[in-house]
This record gives sequence, structure tokens and C-alpha cells, in this order.
Amino acid sequence: TTPLVVAIDGPSGSGKSSTARGVAQKLGLAFLDTGAMYRAATWLVLHSDVEAGDTDAVAALVGSADIAIALDPARPTISINGTDVTEAIREPVVSAAVSAVATNLAVRADLVARQQSIIGSAAQGIVAEGRDITTVVAPEAPVRVLLVADPQARVARRQAELGERVTSSEVTDQVIRRDRDDSTVAQFTEAADGVVVVDSTHLTLSEVIDRIADLAPTSR
Ligand code: C5P
Repeated sequence: TTPLVVAIDGPSGSGKSSTARGVAQKLGLAFLDTGAMYRAATWLVLHSDVEAGDTDAVAALVGSADIAIALDPARPTISINGTDVTEAIREPVVSAAVSAVATNLAVRADLVARQQSIIGSAAQGIVAEGRDITTVVAPEAPVRVLLVADPQARVARRQAELGERVTSSEVTDQVIRRDRDDSTVAQFTEAADGVVVVDSTHLTLSEVIDRIADLAPTSR
């Protein structure tokens, strides 16, 4: 039998990462956070001489980069050109710049191809999450979910993640601005054909995990 692929898309703060990790742990699958790859690419650009707006130079820089991502849902780490950037990619400077790199079509083609190869070689099956997994990266996945939540709920979750480092109006700005910037990245606010919408606004994390895990075919 072919390994199970679970594809999860959604906006920032929808709880995608925690949900996808939980589903992977529950079903014994690997876990791929594709946003971490765009963030790592952005970190590299910010730590180079290349201007984020120089699309050819950015594509060349990212294209020649070695990206190593650990697929263990209990301990997802990511390195780029040998530097572990697991923590650094969560910094606000990276969040603020990531859409500029993610809208670079050559970068997208490169990262999508890498993601498809990672998914294709995950022998035990995999949960992949991002913005275009259900539509572009793994449109044939047997389980495809669009995770949504009201903006207020997403702001509250981001705030809880970031803690006292930022004010709530800063978090609101970040979430709303990234929604707007990302709306040109991929169409992820409406579910494509065959994609199941799960609204997490009034659900706990474990309820969302159970709901998605229940969508997996039982005979695998
Ligand atoms: O999921 P996360 O918020 O970490 O993603 C960071 C950014 O990476 C998003 O804001 C988006 O610009 C980009 N991204 C993307 N396609 C994906 C995953 C993330 O363009 N599949």
C-alpha cells in the first residue's frame, strides 16, 4: 500500500502547525512544515548581500542552498547551509519579510519540488502543512484539509505564542498584514474541490487533531 499523505492548509494563526504535528503523532506519520522552508529561505536572504527585491539573485541564492529539515513531529528542526535556524526563523524580522520571498515564483517552484520529493520519500507517510499543499504540492493526497479560524481567534493564538515580546495591536497588524500579503501567494481561504474545511475557532487543539485523524482511511 502507498504511504498516507495528509495535506493541511490554512492562514497564519489557524493552529496549522500544532494541529499537523498532533495528527502526525497520533497516526505515526512524519511531519513537514513547509512554512519553515520559506522562513529558512527568508532568513538566508536577510543574512546575505542579496536584496529581497532582486528576484533572480534571491532565486539563485535559495536554489543553491542546502535545506535540511527533520521530519520528526516531536522535534522538528531546520538547517540551511549548515546553520540550525529552528529558532531564528520565528523572529518577527523573518515573519515580516517572508511574503516577499514566498511570492518569488522561482523560489516557489524550487521549494515545491523539494517538498514533493520529501513527501514522496516519506516511507511511513507524512502530514504536510502550508498554504498550497492541498492544491499544488500534494493535490492527490487522500486527506486534504483547509483549517480556518476567525481572525480574533488567530490573533489570540499568535499572541499566546509570542508572549510579552509584542503588544496585541502589533500582533493584530502582523496577522492581518500577512493575510493580505499571502493572499497573492496562494489561494488558501476557500477550499478547493474535495478539500474538507475544519473550523477551529470553537474547538480545542485535541478536538481538531481527532477530527482530522478521523478522516484518514482505516485500512492502510
Ligand atoms: O506557516 P507559516 O506562517 O510559518 O508560513 C510562513 C510564510 O511562508 C507564509 O506567510 C507564506 O508567505 C509562506 N508560505 C507559502 N507557502 C506555503 C507555506 C508558507 O508561501 N506552503
